[in-house]
Amino acid sequence: MFRLLILFIVQSAVLNTTNGDHLSLPAWCYWNKDDLSDMEFIESYIMNKIKYAEYNSTLGKVVGYTETGVRNAEVWNKDTAALQARKAQVETVCKTSAEIYSSAIMSKTVEPQVEVMQVKKPDGSHPAMLMCSAYNFYPPLIKVTWLRNGKEVEGGQTSTEEMADGDWYYQIHSHLEYTPESGEEISCVVEHASFKKPMSYKWDPSMSEPDKSKIAIGASGLVLGVVLSAAGFIYYRKKSSGRILVPT
Ligand SMILES: *[C@@H]1O[C@H](CO)[C@@H](O)[C@H](O)[C@H]1NC(C)=O
Repeated sequence: MFRLLILFIVQSAVLNTTNGDHLSLPAWCYWNKDDLSDMEFIESYIMNKIKYAEYNSTLGKVVGYTETGVRNAEVWNKDTAALQARKAQVETVCKTSAEIYSSAIMSKTVEPQVEVMQVKKPDGSHPAMLMCSAYNFYPPLIKVTWLRNGKEVEGGQTSTEEMADGDWYYQIHSHLEYTPESGEEISCVVEHASFKKPMSYKWDPSMSEPDKSKIAIGASGLVLGVVLSAAGFIYYRKKSSGRILVPT
């Protein structure tokens, strides 16, 4: 569903020669696919901050960038044994590290908790505004879209960035501005690495949570009132009938 470009420094050597030259040899692994089939190993040769040559495992050879670099590359590229040993680092260094990295971090996904609600626009004007919020998910890569009667809504939506909660969890909020129509169905669709398929959350315009609890409190009050007045009425009837029927 999502594609990541991942890279990390696997090794880095720095040499300071006696005549003040500075040589550094950073090495990188690049990959994009989950099965690591596109793994690439890169090693750069940098002298005094100028990259003069680079080994690229996809090319299988060293490319020179300066006059010295080109000369060096010619010599190095004749040494097929050394080139093969380098190429092997794709497996030994890159894939091994990537597997450890993936199992330690990449595979840990946490499902977002999603909520769709109606919000007031700051200026209080129409049309209506819906907000779809996803909370407590990891990794931060997420996609939030809107469906109106089963069709993806184009325009009228704004989304915040994934916001870090500071505890490795993230949250995001997407707003949809729309003109309400009767009988329509609006839902928020969330795509995330923790889900096997995109998840859809329907907007229920009938009632919001606070309204529901207000009605529940009102209904309980009504029932209580009816019960108490019925009890009072029965009590009154008994008392008054007693007064009438029992002679003094
Ligand atoms: C390595 O070489 C391949 C093939 O030419 C190229 O596509 C890739 O971008 C190179 N990698 C880097 C980091 O330059």
